[in-house]
Order: sequence, then C-alpha cells, then structure tokens
Amino acid sequence: MQSIKEAFDRSWVGLGPKVTEFEEEWRKLIGCALAVGVNSATAALHLALACFRFPEGKRVLVPSLTFASTATAVLYNRLIPVFVDSDPLTLGMKLEDLERKYDKDCVAVIPVHYAGHPVPMDRLVPWARSKGMKIIEDCAHTAGGIYKGKALGTWGDIGCFSFEEKKCMTTGDGGMMVTDDPELFRDVKAMRWVGIDKDNWKTAQQYVAANHDAMHWFYELNVLGYKYNMNDLAASIGLVQLKKLPGFSLRRSEIIRKYLDGLAGINGISPLLPFEPDVYPYQMFGIRKDKRDELMIWLKRKGIASGCHYTPLSVQPLFAEWGHNCPYIEKEADRFITLPLHADLTDMEVSYIIESIKAYR
Ligand SMILES: Cc1ncc(COP(=O)(O)O)c(C=O)c1O
Repeated sequence: MQSIKEAFDRSWVGLGPKVTEFEEEWRKLIGCALAVGVNSATAALHLALACFRFPEGKRVLVPSLTFASTATAVLYNRLIPVFVDSDPLTLGMKLEDLERKYDKDCVAVIPVHYAGHPVPMDRLVPWARSKGMKIIEDCAHTAGGIYKGKALGTWGDIGCFSFEEKKCMTTGDGGMMVTDDPELFRDVKAMRWVGIDKDNWKTAQQYVAANHDAMHWFYELNVLGYKYNMNDLAASIGLVQLKKLPGFSLRRSEIIRKYLDGLAGINGISPLLPFEPDVYPYQMFGIRKDKRDELMIWLKRKGIASGCHYTPLSVQPLFAEWGHNCPYIEKEADRFITLPLHADLTDMEVSYIIESIKAYR
C-alpha cells in the first residue's frame, strides 16, 4: 500500500518512473541487458515476435501444452503455429517432435517452461540456431529460475514473463520482456506505447525543464505500436512483490515437497512431472490420474480447488486448421489435475488436501 501511495502522492499512475524502477530491478534479477515492462505476457509474446518482422505466413513452433497466448501471439503476427507434442516425462516440448515438425518455413520456436520446469535449453538452443531460427522463451511459469547456471529467459533471443495474479509474483496483470540484444529492442518501447518513443513522464519533465521550448509535446510515429505499456500502479505492486519473491518461491518449494512426500505411493496417482523443488521455483503443482474427473468432483465436494492445465491447443477449435497432430499430449492431458499452490497455503491446508486424496477410493 505504501508503494502504491507513492505513485498517488506523485500524482502519476500511468507509464512513469515506477515502471522504469521495476524494469531495472527485474533486469538485475534476471541478469540481462534490457527489460521492458508491458501489461501482460500475452503482450510480451506478441511484441517479441513483432520485433523480428517475420514475413507473413512463416511458421512458428510452439508446444501444444500451453496457455492460449503462446499461440495466439503467433496469429496476431500473421504467422502460422506449428504444434509440438510434449515430452512424456517433463511435459516440455518433445525435442524429437520439434525436429520432425521443423521445415524451412519455420522462423522461430517458443519453448514454454511448463509449471516452471525448464525445457532442456542446452539442447534446444544449438539445434534452433543451426536452423537459423529465433528463440523466444515463454517464462510465464517461472520467475528467477536458473537452468544449468543460466537464468531462464536469457537462453534464447527474448524472454517473456507474466505477473498475472496466479503467477510466481503478481502486479494484478503485467508482463516483462528481456533480452541481451539492444538492437532487437530498438523500437520496443515505441511498440508498447502506440508507436510513441517517448513516454508521458519524459514529456512532463521536458515541460518543466525547458521554459524556452514549446515542443515538449512533440512526438513522431515511426513504427506500428500497441497500447501494451505497464503503468506505475502495477509497477508499484511489482517492486514490493519482487522483494517477497524469494520467500514466495521457498514456500512454494516447501509445499511441493509436502505434496510429493504425502502423495508418494498412492495407487494410480503420480506427480505431473519430476518436480525438483530444491532446484527450480515452480508456479504449478499437479498430479496424473486415470478417470481424473471423478477425483476432481471428490475434491470439489471437500472444498478443494483443482484445475487442468491445459486442454492442448492442438485440439482447440480455433487452431483446428493446424491441430490434431500431437497424439501423446492430446490423450494424456485428460489425466491431469492441478492442485492448489500458492505461498499463503498453510501446512494444515496442504495436509487436508493430501488426506482428502488419500481418502478417495
Ligand atoms: C504459458 C503461458 N504463457 C503466457 C501466458 C499469458 O500471460 P498473461 O496472463 O500475463 O498474458 C500465460 C498465462 O497464464 C501462460 O500460462
């Protein structure tokens, strides 16, 4: 509340100094050259592809098991999504299917670190580079995860993070784009703000600073932009959440350890993937179970929220034209149940969830 109050006290709640401050803190966390705040990871993914100015109709490899935005960003850019099946163990893109689906019209690949579990970027990156493809990491499920000594989000050309309310940390809604290549981000600040490469905060400062100049209001439009900027209220929340992020991540890891211990050995139930809570921060936890719906109804009656992440995009009607080509995940996702995972979950609540699953027959 104090951080938000500062924005109100300055009478500046739009794109301004808090966004700049948050971008700098995020840049330091990830250890990259540049970070740009936007209003969602969806916006970040749209702009990330737009940065490359790919010719219309080129193809982009995306996992089928992901949230809509990974693939709608491809359509926003008038490109074609090519769905890739999941690795049965980790649920990241299956690298063999990636190689099989590749053709010379593929210009980019968007790996998703599903639940926060890293895609083996040490294998994916050299392969994608050898094909001349660009790599955009969808980091919506991670915040500060490190794979083989290198931060997730910095393995490819651009990393896209989400601060939507259920993510590792939140700004209500929000996102961040990161890169080590300043040339790639040459126009990105204009692209996030309707094509104007000068935010209102700078305009206001110029107004105050130069009495002899009547051009403080002036801007030029050189690129097609969108209304995708982060604002100072969201950034105020982000700055405080960022300080709490290490604590959030520790608590989520602790809860995952409790789930793994408590659910081990229950017949017919296995964790979604080989979670390593001592190594990676996770945004999601879940299990696999035959006849999943019956257990979901049981949990619902016990007052326990559950979900399924996700219906594979390759079976969604919107993507029918390019879909029905990921046989493993299109079947297996019917067995997925996501369980509650957030830093405020108490030990008692976690035990109650575990005991309720044990009691299910
Ligand atoms: C894998 C993935 N990518 C992208 C997004 C989009 O994030 P946002 O809600 O910030 O636009 C999400 C959101 O849930 C997601 O799970």
